[in-house]
Formats: sequence, structure tokens, C-alpha cells
Amino acid sequence: MAVDVYPQHEDVSAKMWGEIDQVISENKDRPGSIIAVLRKCQDIVGYLPIELINYLSHGMNLPSSEVFGIATFYSLFSLKPKGRHNIKICLGTACYVKGMREIMDRIRSTYKMHVGETTQDRRFSLEAVRCLGACGLAPVVVVNQDIHGIMSADKITDVLITYE
Ligand code: FES
Repeated sequence: MAVDVYPQHEDVSAKMWGEIDQVISENKDRPGSIIAVLRKCQDIVGYLPIELINYLSHGMNLPSSEVFGIATFYSLFSLKPKGRHNIKICLGTACYVKGMREIMDRIRSTYKMHVGETTQDRRFSLEAVRCLGACGLAPVVVVNQDIHGIMSADKITDVLITYE
């Protein structure tokens, strides 16, 4: 597709639209490939803006309601921008009784971000999970792939400051 007909979106560069076109052309004749297509496009852009979903439906010749339905059904897809660092707080019983509420409140007040949100500067995204399988280290916070155990509201701010 010609560059001048790409939808305008601040997070999707012309180079990205070119890569997306490539993904579409490799998959448009493969029935059932839409999940793989969404996944590849999310890898390219970082999330799935609505303009991208519309573009994919058109390219894949599928109703946009169907593609939108798939993108919202699976938790691996995000329709909102993600932060550079993903914070997972554990709301399992062991972590909760050992003070996760205070940790969550501290993150919320320091970074003005609730669960499911991303900070305005896109530094952090915050996600809540049920038991990370490390209850012996409760309360546990995971940042990207790093596990931070025996956390506290005071310690979490010192930890997060190290993630630029
Ligand atoms: S309850 Fe948090 S790791 Fe198990």
C-alpha cells in the first residue's frame, strides 16, 4: 500500500506501517491467522491502536467488529499504550495480608497510576495478578522480569526509581 494512504497515528511510523503491510500480505490468504497477525503487529507497535485494528480488518478482509472482538477478548493484547517497564503487583492472599494494599497505594499516589493504567510519560504500566507462585517472598512485586520480594511501601519507591 502507498505510504500516503496510511492512517495517521502518532505511535505508528511509516516504517511500522510498511512492516504491518508485510505481515498482512504474508497472512491474508491463511484462514485463522488473525491472532498471529495481531500478535506480530502488537510486537511492531507495542500495542493495538484502534486505527491499526481497522487497517488490519481491511487488509485481512475481515469485519472490524470481529478483529476488535478478538483483540479485546485475549489478555495478551493491549489496546492502550504500555509503559517501558511493566509492574506486576500480586494480590494473592499471602501478599495481600503482608501489606500489598499499602504498596499499591504508594505506587498509585507516587505515579498517579491505577491498576490497568500506564503513566503519562509511558515509563510504567501497572498490572495486578493472583499469586506469582513466590508466596514465601510475600509481598512480591515483579518489574519486567525482576522479582522483588519482601517489599514494603517505603522500599517500592526506592526500587522503582532505578527503572528509567
Ligand atoms: S500470594 Fe503473592 S506470590 Fe503467592
